Amino acid sequence: MQRVALTPDLAMSRNSMSPDADTCSNAVLPSFDPKILRGAFGRFATGLTVVTAASEDGPVGITANSFSSVSLDPPLVLWSIARSSRRFDAFAGARFQAIHILGAGQIDLSRRFFRDGRDFAGLDTVPGLGGVPLIRGALALLECEIVSRMDCGDHLVLIGHVRAMETSDGEPLVFAAGRYGTLAAFAS
Ligand SMILES: Cc1cc2nc3c(=O)[nH]c(=O)nc-3n(C[C@H](O)[C@H](O)[C@H](O)COP(=O)(O)O)c2cc1C
Repeated sequence: MQRVALTPDLAMSRNSMSPDADTCSNAVLPSFDPKILRGAFGRFATGLTVVTAASEDGPVGITANSFSSVSLDPPLVLWSIARSSRRFDAFAGARFQAIHILGAGQIDLSRRFFRDGRDFAGLDTVPGLGGVPLIRGALALLECEIVSRMDCGDHLVLIGHVRAMETSDGEPLVFAAGRYGTLAAFAS
């Protein structure tokens, strides 16, 4: 294992919070290869979600593994959208969004919204809060109202207040190191 520096040496800095600390906009060293960082992030196994919204151009969806639960009381979650995404405006501007936590049998749905954010053809959907398309069959469905947005480097973090939800039983879909999997290997 080799240590890679991402920023100029901070060893001499005091270990106290600076009131001006803006970790979201600190640039990394120009010599730094982002592939190395992507590789490190990718070692963190996540679940997978499809987030949907209603936009001026119709329903939109995106496969996202940046989802995280944040708070139980009030019920808050987050996910982040890449600024480079063609779907950025649709999600950055959507007050209501539905987060579908995918089950082990939903790789196809993940691939569909990885490729194309507008492809709802043949999907069983019903309108949720704000007319957001709710896709049937997810392991959990969180209907959220976006209550906060935070610029964070090349992504925008969206904080959602969960306004309605439903769950069903089943195995989650897992994603790590660029590959899909299930939790079967961990069952004892
Ligand atoms: C496993 C996986 C997780 C992803 N997670 C995110 C995410 O959290 N945020 C995001 O903006 N894009 C994420 N993406 C990329 C989008 O699903 C989609 O491929 C991308 O937005 C395509 O570019 P476009 O929006 O310009 O069409 C993820 C893709 C995959 C395969």
